[in-house]
Amino acid sequence: MRVLVVGSGYVGLVAAACFAEAGHRVLGVDVDADKIAKLRQGVSPIFEPGLDGLLAKHLASGQLAFSTGLEEGIADADAAFICVGTPMGEDGSADLRFILQVAADLGRALPLRPPGARPLIVVDKSTVPVGTAARVRQAIQAELEAAGQDRPFEVVSNPEFLREGSALEDFLRPDRVVVGCHTDFAEAVMKALYAPFLEASKGKWFRMDPASAELTKYAANAMLALRISFINEIAALSEEVGADVDFVKAAIGADHRIGPAFLNPGPGFGGSCFPKDLQALLKTGREHGISLKTLTATVEANRHQKMVLLRKIKAHYGVQGGDPAPLAGKRFALWGLAFKAHTDDIREAMSLELIEGLLALGATVAAHDFEAMPAIRARLGDRITYAAEPLQACEGADALLVATEWPEYRNADLAAAGAALKSKVMFDGRNLFRPEAMKAAGWTYHSLGRRTL
Ligand SMILES: NC(=O)c1ccc[n+]([C@@H]2O[C@H](COP(=O)([O-])OP(=O)(O)OC[C@H]3O[C@@H](n4cnc5c(N)ncnc54)[C@H](O)[C@@H]3O)[C@@H](O)[C@H]2O)c1
Repeated sequence: MRVLVVGSGYVGLVAAACFAEAGHRVLGVDVDADKIAKLRQGVSPIFEPGLDGLLAKHLASGQLAFSTGLEEGIADADAAFICVGTPMGEDGSADLRFILQVAADLGRALPLRPPGARPLIVVDKSTVPVGTAARVRQAIQAELEAAGQDRPFEVVSNPEFLREGSALEDFLRPDRVVVGCHTDFAEAVMKALYAPFLEASKGKWFRMDPASAELTKYAANAMLALRISFINEIAALSEEVGADVDFVKAAIGADHRIGPAFLNPGPGFGGSCFPKDLQALLKTGREHGISLKTLTATVEANRHQKMVLLRKIKAHYGVQGGDPAPLAGKRFALWGLAFKAHTDDIREAMSLELIEGLLALGATVAAHDFEAMPAIRARLGDRITYAAEPLQACEGADALLVATEWPEYRNADLAAAGAALKSKVMFDGRNLFRPEAMKAAGWTYHSLGRRTL
């Protein structure tokens, strides 16, 4: 089949490369001319494991091409996927500017399809509030009418559940595909597109109406965020009552009604999705007179959690109010900048708030990450220093902070890190190590939901 993918960011690029891998002919589109120029040379603008190889493979095979305009691919496309950003608007709602822009572009380009062509399936893959499929349809129709033209099309909702860091695996072997559509024809086109993936994964196919599909995506993210905030609160309580959250989470996760996923305490959730999607869902609730109290609490708990390492640092160094720079002269090695491992994405990363908090208290920061250094450098410039290796960040620092769960940190040479530090003090926001082992190795080890021994 022939596919247009509009928006070549984390979702669009992965979708384009994976559809090409499934044997479809794909044109990836983006308004960012630099991005498209790089992509045409086989250079991915983002880090995602495996993506470079897949892009190179299908640029070479001719299954995949890139353009700054969708006109090139619209005439014979079976489906056009909208994969542009839906950032948080000022009032918390999803900003649909980019979505509606693409809808208008599609409406203007549709007359390039021959009269009598099959309906174009326009697919909302971006995360969008309930009712967006209808708005996209109106925006396309308005352009057709303005041009005095008529071409058949149907708007379908097909939310994306991939996780950055394992996006290719998630897309190529999905546990489910959700399609909100009104006609059997639209479902058949979507099934043909996804068949190779579902055959590989034996994943489930869910056909529903567009509103239900749109809500499904928000409900999924809200549930995951809720579990994170829940276990973070249990971790905080564990510390106070002398329990160990590792035991608690393992035992409750073994209950098949609960399951083990998303029960790892951490320094609050971030990233490009959960924070904005929760706000958008709360806004939808307000618009419809439904107070989503569990979500309000989730957001509030996460705001508190993002400061957890800073609170522990302040307590350790006895920081009191009144002193404008109580951590002046202190230097912190920070391992991990991306909002989670295996990505270079720093959108809403908790490392940013940690860094700002430390700088405000007069401390300095030497940071390391395996992929996110360029993004943080572009954002913070020379306000912090950057280490080429994890151990280099530790040299002469007063303590080591862990904010991202890169496996390399778990396997790092802690003896060497301890030797490079001024003192063997660690604040581990990811519980990478066991308190007993750390104590035995001479560390003062602060983690989440376990006692500091
Ligand atoms: N990143 C994720 O893990 C993830 C997972 C599931 C769903 N989503 C959702 O998918 C959507 C896209 O997210 P992302 O992380 O890929 O965003 P992104 O910011 O990485 O990419 C969006 C791309 O769209 C391009 N764009 C903007 N306007 C355009 C236009 N008019 N025409 C063509 N291109 C245009 C931008 O230049 C950018 O390259 C969002 O709604 C997001 O919530 C993201």
